[in-house]
Amino acid sequence: MDIQKFVKPNIRSLRAYHAEEIPCKVKLDANESPYSAISNQRSAISLEKNLQTLNRYPDPQATSLRKLMAKEFRVKPQNVLHGNGSDELIYYLITTFGGPVLYPVPTFSRYGIISQALDEKKIEIPLDKDFDIDIEKTMTSIKKYRPKLIFLSSPNNPTGNCFTSDKILKIIKTTSFSKQGRGDSRISSLVVVDEAYQSFSNEKSFMPLLDKYRNLIILNTLSKIGLAGLRLGFLIANEEIINEVNKVRLPFNVNSISQAVAIEALKNKKKLRSYITSIISERKRLFREMEKIDGITPYPSDANFILFRAADAVGVYKRLLEKGVLIRNMTRVIENCLRVTVGTPGENTVFLKTLKQVL
Ligand SMILES: Cc1ncc(COP(=O)(O)O)c(C=O)c1O
Repeated sequence: MDIQKFVKPNIRSLRAYHAEEIPCKVKLDANESPYSAISNQRSAISLEKNLQTLNRYPDPQATSLRKLMAKEFRVKPQNVLHGNGSDELIYYLITTFGGPVLYPVPTFSRYGIISQALDEKKIEIPLDKDFDIDIEKTMTSIKKYRPKLIFLSSPNNPTGNCFTSDKILKIIKTTSFSKQGRGDSRISSLVVVDEAYQSFSNEKSFMPLLDKYRNLIILNTLSKIGLAGLRLGFLIANEEIINEVNKVRLPFNVNSISQAVAIEALKNKKKLRSYITSIISERKRLFREMEKIDGITPYPSDANFILFRAADAVGVYKRLLEKGVLIRNMTRVIENCLRVTVGTPGENTVFLKTLKQVL
């Protein structure tokens, strides 16, 4: 039997996410935090308590967690929707609103993969030479294709930079609802600002603009601040948007262990803040040191990783791995580029030393 015959054409050309575990001594490939945000004792008690009730389904509304996150984001709980990672919320957004889906490239690959999986049209606009939004081309494409959804990852993965705020704002404004009761003739797009790496950036979050622009949606995640294994992401938007996306959300998408453990971890704000501060200061040190190394060009970053160019990038990647240092090969996406996640001070020192050796 030829299974291929049964597969939808848009799925046939997709490739499964490559989640191979590559053995290494220093793992700096996946933009994770090097620190677990779990404070052992409290989380263990909470875990133990929840293990007793695993025969029950989790709270489908994730009421306590959403309440806590709403406080964190300074919005109301009805403005927050929980996801099994923010990538699930990207899935829900495209399922709910459909395409065309517009985003700059290179960017987080899931916007394109999910659009294709759901058979929605993709509009990819190349970033300019500074990895910033090409605003002319973007505006032209918005007028031409009228995308339902626009995804802007700022800071952007894998380039690391924030896009110019004025450019993001221009996109939000020109595609926004009219608030003066003049109907919705001006609606052209919902703009999703993906703030997965916002905690590492000096730029302001777009969260305070949610009240003003009803077409604005923010994505956030706990994955980059030490809880990637829990799979928890959040969509923050006006209630009308939340209510629509909630229709496609699977009722028990976030399990009870993740809900309970996250609540405990998020109580320890001081610890979380100190990890973020350490990552930012290590990113600065890594960048300074990488700038001094002949043969590579690091790009400034507002995130927890650094993109860099090397003449023989694939060779550098392989030789680093031979010596136990795993980073991400980005050469398929940006010519001659590799991406290294900021680790602990010790891990970063090993990376720098090994990089000098292999070069
Ligand atoms: C820009 C961006 N958005 C979203 C995600 C997905 O995060 P999560 O682990 O919450 O699914 C990532 C993960 O790398 C990312 O880089």
